[in-house]
Amino acid sequence: MSETLNGMLEQRFGRSLPAAGDLAPAQADRLAALAGHGSVRAFADRPVPDTLVELVCACAFSAPSKSDLQLRDIVVVRDADRRAALAGLVPGTDWLRDAPVILILCGNAGRLVAMMERAGLPFPNAHADQLVNAVADAAITLGWLQAAANMAGLGGCAVSGIRENVDEVAALLELPPLVVPFAGFALGWPAEEAAITARLPLEVTLHAERFGSGDDPAALAEYDRRREALGQGNWTAKRTAQYSKPKNHAMGAFLKRAGFTLG
Ligand SMILES: Cc1cc2nc3c(=O)[nH]c(=O)nc-3n(C[C@H](O)[C@H](O)[C@H](O)COP(=O)(O)O)c2cc1C
Repeated sequence: MSETLNGMLEQRFGRSLPAAGDLAPAQADRLAALAGHGSVRAFADRPVPDTLVELVCACAFSAPSKSDLQLRDIVVVRDADRRAALAGLVPGTDWLRDAPVILILCGNAGRLVAMMERAGLPFPNAHADQLVNAVADAAITLGWLQAAANMAGLGGCAVSGIRENVDEVAALLELPPLVVPFAGFALGWPAEEAAITARLPLEVTLHAERFGSGDDPAALAEYDRRREALGQGNWTAKRTAQYSKPKNHAMGAFLKRAGFTLG
């Protein structure tokens, strides 16, 4: 099984990792479930039972949480009209309409504030760091949700595009103050094989002892060549094109209206 794991890692990073060969097959199998991840954006016309959605969400909520604060929640959207409305608020994602379930992962800083109010205690920590705590909890939960879905034989794709019309999404889901929609997650039975997308080389993203002075342009150019050879497009060209246009400028104003003090 280490060959399978190493095969996946080679596709992902362009080289094998020696430690993969030292693992027991069962351990390599478990890691292969992570290393072989691929987002799925096409879904079979097959219902996903409520109980299975509940199960993968429970596994996602088993993720670690900063200070055990658990500042994250998931809104499960199954109703067809509501899913269509949500999909209509996310530009450029026609495939989202066909997802049988859309989950919205929210950071929930309101949970802690309400607890302090009920306890009659002061809360001198309603600052930007609480927003970071809540969003981090939602992000970690999203990662575990994706892994849980994959491991259960389901598939899915995160959708941060819900933040492009954040006010409308918040209104549709009736989000209370201090709750921020971090990302959607389209969930269903895969109707396409998940592809292993090449990631930046470990030599670029894994730093020893010190961060160093920035990305090596030669390593990025080599990564771009590898992605093009795999038919995955030039990463630098795609990402610079995406982020040279204004995106999600409503987010700062939304956060202030939702009650976050960003000081
Ligand atoms: C927080 C987050 C938000 C994402 N938002 C979107 C999105 O709005 N639309 C989309 O098509 N994919 C979205 N994705 C999926 C990424 O595009 C995908 O993970 C990336 O291209 C790598 O592909 P892979 O997941 O198949 O390895 C998102 C992923 C994450 C983690």
